[in-house]
Amino acid sequence: MSSTTTARRYIVRPAASVQGELRVPGDKSISHRALMLGGIADGPTSISGFLASEDCLATLAALGALGVRIERRQETLVRVHGAGRDGLTGSAGLLDMGNAGTAIRLLMGLLAGQRFDSTLSGDASLQRRPMERVAAPLRAMGARIDTQAGRAPVHIHGGAALQGIDYALPMASAQVKSALLLAALYAQGVSSVSEPAPTRDHTERMLRGFGVQLTSAAGRVSLAGGQRLTGCDIAVPGDFSSAAFFIVAGCLAARQGLTIRDVGVNPTRTGLLSMLRLMGADIEVQPHAASGAEPVADIHVRAGALRGIRVPEALVPLAIDEFPVFFIAAAAASGETVVTGAAELRVKESDRLAAMAAGLATLGIECELLPDGLRLQGGAMRGGRIDSHGDHRIAMAFAVASLIASGPIEIEDVANVATSFPGFPRLARAAGLALED
Ligand code: S3P
Repeated sequence: MSSTTTARRYIVRPAASVQGELRVPGDKSISHRALMLGGIADGPTSISGFLASEDCLATLAALGALGVRIERRQETLVRVHGAGRDGLTGSAGLLDMGNAGTAIRLLMGLLAGQRFDSTLSGDASLQRRPMERVAAPLRAMGARIDTQAGRAPVHIHGGAALQGIDYALPMASAQVKSALLLAALYAQGVSSVSEPAPTRDHTERMLRGFGVQLTSAAGRVSLAGGQRLTGCDIAVPGDFSSAAFFIVAGCLAARQGLTIRDVGVNPTRTGLLSMLRLMGADIEVQPHAASGAEPVADIHVRAGALRGIRVPEALVPLAIDEFPVFFIAAAAASGETVVTGAAELRVKESDRLAAMAAGLATLGIECELLPDGLRLQGGAMRGGRIDSHGDHRIAMAFAVASLIASGPIEIEDVANVATSFPGFPRLARAAGLALED
């Protein structure tokens, strides 16, 4: 099957090495935000390096339904004709965000202060994920929002007058922070959001790029409502979270080295590099000269021996999407690795702690599921059949495991890889993985 059709399963046979140079598709978080901010800006916004994945295309379709004209000039080149701060129009139908947690949560913030009603929902996985974490502080701002026992579908009543808020996030979540910042643009007065630990700051960087004044210091971001955005050009860097699969693959099997070019290396995203370096990994980051709002680099990786670690909890939010593949690195390491403070992994596209513990156990790795993490012992890995639980990052993580397994790994339910990483099978084969889809 070709990588453009939707595979249901991968069979990945043991391969001895990975090597060469590759580029991964554009950043998912930045692509969602570029569409949304471009949609409410004055004037056009050009987005190059856009991630044409199912998640981002759901955001693109939703903005179209809300009256924003968007041109797809090429697969990854998008021009958004901003409707202006008050130019969105109501959608007659439900906005279906598919599998995309970022899309539904950020749009809840963007739509909370509009004149019209909106209903947002998504696939079965998205309908299991918590939405009250966004709805509750939005209600405190004056929004009127109904959830289904805290889950999607989410109905937002139009015409609410929002007031600024001073909100301390109970969990480290860039999605909640970003939703509140988007709502704050429509609120009267200043809003401030404090976070318990640093999370990805793409929204803050991009708002500044659109001309919004905001202050951010000591874990607290503030902005005054009523500001207008001015359209701009955005070059989306390669997604660090997609590069992560190849970074770990390189740590396990790039005896001649592997290079991933043009990767976004915003420090709120690169906790995985710190964790792998603590394990002894050989990784070199070559920064590009600064140009846009986001730092970009080439990442060179070489295989070497890894040792187990206790992951510092402060790194967890900075590597939140990388744990599935990090656990594969931990399985290849000598000794024990312990992750705690990572309960958020239970409410991602799947319960990633449970899905990884089950898959690793199937492949013969001794591991213990903790309420907020995982304890595992590096060791010999065999082949076996893995259920990805329809979670793109679980599927890709176990594809990387083929580099250390003694037999084939069959990964079920992989269609959702297309939500974040179109073309993964092709790139994986180009790097040296023996992946059949
Ligand atoms: C994202 C934030 C993270 C991350 C998700 C993308 C974003 O979620 O897991 O894949 O784009 O803001 P949380 O903020 O809920 O931790």
